[in-house]
Amino acid sequence: MTPEIDLVPEVSSLSEIYLTSDHAPRYRKLFERFKEAYGEYPDFVSRSPGRVNLIGEHIDYCYFSVLPMAIEADIVILVSKNDSRKINLLNGDSKFEQESFALPDDGAFVSIDPTVTTWANYFKCGHLVAHQYLSESRPRSKLPVGMDVLVDGTVPAAAGLSSSAAFICAAALATLRANGITSVSKEQLTTLAIVSERHLGVFSGGMDQSASVFGKRDHALYVQFQPQLECTPFKFPDTEPQLAFLIANSLVTANKHETAPINYNLRVVEVSIAAEILAHKCSVSIPQDSGIGTGTLRGFMEAYYKEYEGALPWDGEVLEGTIRLERMAKLVRTVFVQTDGYTTAEAAEELGITVDQLHDRFLSKTPVRFEKLQLYSRALHVYEEALRVLQYLTLLLHPPVDSVSLFHDLGQLMNKSHDSLRGLYNSSCKELDEICEIARSSGSYGSRVTGAGFGGCSVHLVTSQKVQDVKNALIEQYYRVRFPGISDAALEDALVISKPGIGSLVYTGGMP
Ligand code: GLA
Repeated sequence: MTPEIDLVPEVSSLSEIYLTSDHAPRYRKLFERFKEAYGEYPDFVSRSPGRVNLIGEHIDYCYFSVLPMAIEADIVILVSKNDSRKINLLNGDSKFEQESFALPDDGAFVSIDPTVTTWANYFKCGHLVAHQYLSESRPRSKLPVGMDVLVDGTVPAAAGLSSSAAFICAAALATLRANGITSVSKEQLTTLAIVSERHLGVFSGGMDQSASVFGKRDHALYVQFQPQLECTPFKFPDTEPQLAFLIANSLVTANKHETAPINYNLRVVEVSIAAEILAHKCSVSIPQDSGIGTGTLRGFMEAYYKEYEGALPWDGEVLEGTIRLERMAKLVRTVFVQTDGYTTAEAAEELGITVDQLHDRFLSKTPVRFEKLQLYSRALHVYEEALRVLQYLTLLLHPPVDSVSLFHDLGQLMNKSHDSLRGLYNSSCKELDEICEIARSSGSYGSRVTGAGFGGCSVHLVTSQKVQDVKNALIEQYYRVRFPGISDAALEDALVISKPGIGSLVYTGGMP
């Protein structure tokens, strides 16, 4: 029997997409705007949601599993084909200017200049990977068609809720559809989108795209990257009172792209060097399959176990994974004795290579700036965070009978995750730390930064009874203090109870 392929759905009613609020007025406005600009209503709408990550931060690019969920906020793209060789882009938000780019006549892929800051780059990323897919799957296919496009987003930008992945997934889906691909598997779309942000110079992992594409209403996702991409939806246990996740935006802008050399990409480089040093010290060879073409901490763990324990690669079994990860954390403590960091000369020496070789292998793929490479703390965070994901999953799948114990245990893991991101990974900021403190002391069981961090959003585990207390405390002690005069509308946007929503899809229901 051939396994059933999970396809990106096509829906014709907005109620299949949105549960908590009526989006008909939004769509009607967008349809009218589209008609005004392009002379007709769009052929279809492609949309992809943002996500919130519950736990498992900064470990996806090391291929460790994560636990995000798609949210209802999304990017929608209204599309019609046109007869020109151009993609015309309008944005529902007037602060983004109208853009347009030509499609090369020789069938080449669109070029993207990551040094130019323009919102059109995100569309181009999606277009490029979709075009690559079209050329591979239909080698003699025609040139990609011109498109008239209107983009509208409710995922706040640069806030850690994955607006860029949502945009790129929706753009890739829109391009495929406009070029006649009406059926694409979720796995395919995710795989295409995962590599796309690298064209903008960010070496992100695959969590955001997986959550955006595979999102399922009322379900969180257990996303595994190895041995292959697998997204398993699961429901939260029924509890009394009900549990809820509150997202609080620090309103500190966190631009992953602009700060990549000192933040995001630097972390990717540090964990890669750490993985290679571990492999070198333990005399194992590891696959060179990271985003920057080096080994990964997951790859090292597999190789280590194969070599020394005679065990098969970890198949995702929770207990076995837990034991292995604990062992890895111990190994990190033994191998990396310089807990305050390594100079390039010291890191090269640990690897038994020259500084030039270190530059070639690790520091030339993407520009990074640092005083010392933090190898100990980054590697320790990764193994311990991967362990917390397994512990969190175990609690959700086999919850203690008593709901309060469940909230407490889940909350503790989230708090520890935040502490590690703050202390070991340095990816929090004082505003997020403050938000987490306030939330915890007003009723949140667990509070942590979510997404890449360095600003952006936090997520809080609260019961339905405590939501209002936590919100009130944050409004009084954080928002009104730091942003005097903040409007009620801005507060409403900054504090959101997030329900897990459906993933990427094509809407063909026309004007609602
Ligand atoms: C960003 C990246 C993801 C992931 C998170 C941190 O959202 O796009 O791949 O690494 O940061 O967990």
